[in-house]
Amino acid sequence: MASFKIFENVCMFNLKAHNSSSLNGSINVPGDKSISHRSVILGGLAVGETIVNGLLESEDVLHTIAAMREFGVIVKKLDEQQWSIYGRGVGGFDEPKNALYLGNSGTGVRLLLGLAAGNPINAFFIGDNSLSKRPMRRVTAPLEIMGARFVNRSDGCLPIVCSGPKHLLPIQYELPVASAQVKSAILLAALGAAGKTTILEPEPTRDHTEIMLKQFGAQINIKPFNKDGREISIVGQPELQAKTIHVPADPSSAAFPAVAALITRGSHIKLKNVCANSLRFGLFEILIKMGANIKIDYCDNTEGEKIAHLEVKSSSLKGIKVPAEIAPRMIDEYPILAVAAAFAEGTTIMLGLKELRVKESDRLSAIAKGLVACGVKVEETIDSLTVYGRGGLVKGGAFIEANMDHRIAMSFLVLGMATEKPIEIDDSTTIQTSFPNFYELMTQIGCKLTMPSSIK
Ligand code: S3P
Repeated sequence: MASFKIFENVCMFNLKAHNSSSLNGSINVPGDKSISHRSVILGGLAVGETIVNGLLESEDVLHTIAAMREFGVIVKKLDEQQWSIYGRGVGGFDEPKNALYLGNSGTGVRLLLGLAAGNPINAFFIGDNSLSKRPMRRVTAPLEIMGARFVNRSDGCLPIVCSGPKHLLPIQYELPVASAQVKSAILLAALGAAGKTTILEPEPTRDHTEIMLKQFGAQINIKPFNKDGREISIVGQPELQAKTIHVPADPSSAAFPAVAALITRGSHIKLKNVCANSLRFGLFEILIKMGANIKIDYCDNTEGEKIAHLEVKSSSLKGIKVPAEIAPRMIDEYPILAVAAAFAEGTTIMLGLKELRVKESDRLSAIAKGLVACGVKVEETIDSLTVYGRGGLVKGGAFIEANMDHRIAMSFLVLGMATEKPIEIDDSTTIQTSFPNFYELMTQIGCKLTMPSSIK
């Protein structure tokens, strides 16, 4: 475990990325964050023992586990990434004695707000500084229509108290924003309502909740809605059956070593057992259109989720127009796409990015500011970003503030692996929220990451 210790120390401080080449090797990136949250939550709602293999043991997921224990669910670690969950059944949750601290996790808090609303209890939700700035009305508004009550700050943000009613009402609700978190919060609440809830989703977003609910035996139906959308209906008060779950690797985490290999010379890496759900795979489709040498080998279909091995080689990339319609399928990948775009030949225009303003940080402005500091010309509007690619030659030499945002931190570290001068980020602890062994895996394939001497 020596390498873990090294990471623990490094992770407390700044990290610096240096020009790297010939990245090589085959790695398993950690389990998918979205699927990990959902497996703990649905395990807690089922009757019997759910076993989760490959769980992402990152801060975000550990906060969800701590919250589930507050609701009275028994969650035990059996082995590395293997957990057992004894569910309480739908509607059987205890009232938490303590405030539920969800750290940095938007998924954790929004899904658990839905879950709490389906139980006649009061639950207090708090988070870190980043989470306490993020909009929650998108979730509390539909839950209020179902009969839940909330006390929150006047801007709708955390801290929030949720009071679930004795009898939650089923609703029909059209999502005003493309958000899997909002959809999932309503679906989880709907489990506690007597009757059928219907959600109209104009633009499809990641469907892990629907897939997993079906696996646990919920009565859930999905039909087309409008041009590309979906109508999802679920019947409340089911008895969910405990399951064994295998969490595939997170495509959003795989994106970092993949882009590092694309932009560094002489690289050839393999990423195994990556979740290849088409609603998560937009980045890889776009990179391939930009000329990336990425081979996708679809190898399995585990519990309704497609799995693939990826093989990635250094590539000369070309700028591209990324249409707004694809945004929900790659919403977390714009920071790392912008890094790839900075090295491409020509201009990359990314549209439909309004939601990036309300992620762990204002990602649109963080990407633009960071790229400019590294010598890349960009144009930022309220919901778009244009990156003028440097055809392989990016200066770098910047100090980047991660703003408590793991994906901004990891994206600029990847950028620094191919810039002329190193790039330093102010705080690497935030990486623990989604990719706890980032340092270990990236250095294993040959990335040069160091702790700056000024803080040694
Ligand atoms: C997630 C949904 C997305 C994504 C987040 C994880 C999920 O958020 O950005 O990292 O697990 O449902 P939105 O629902 O706000 O788009």
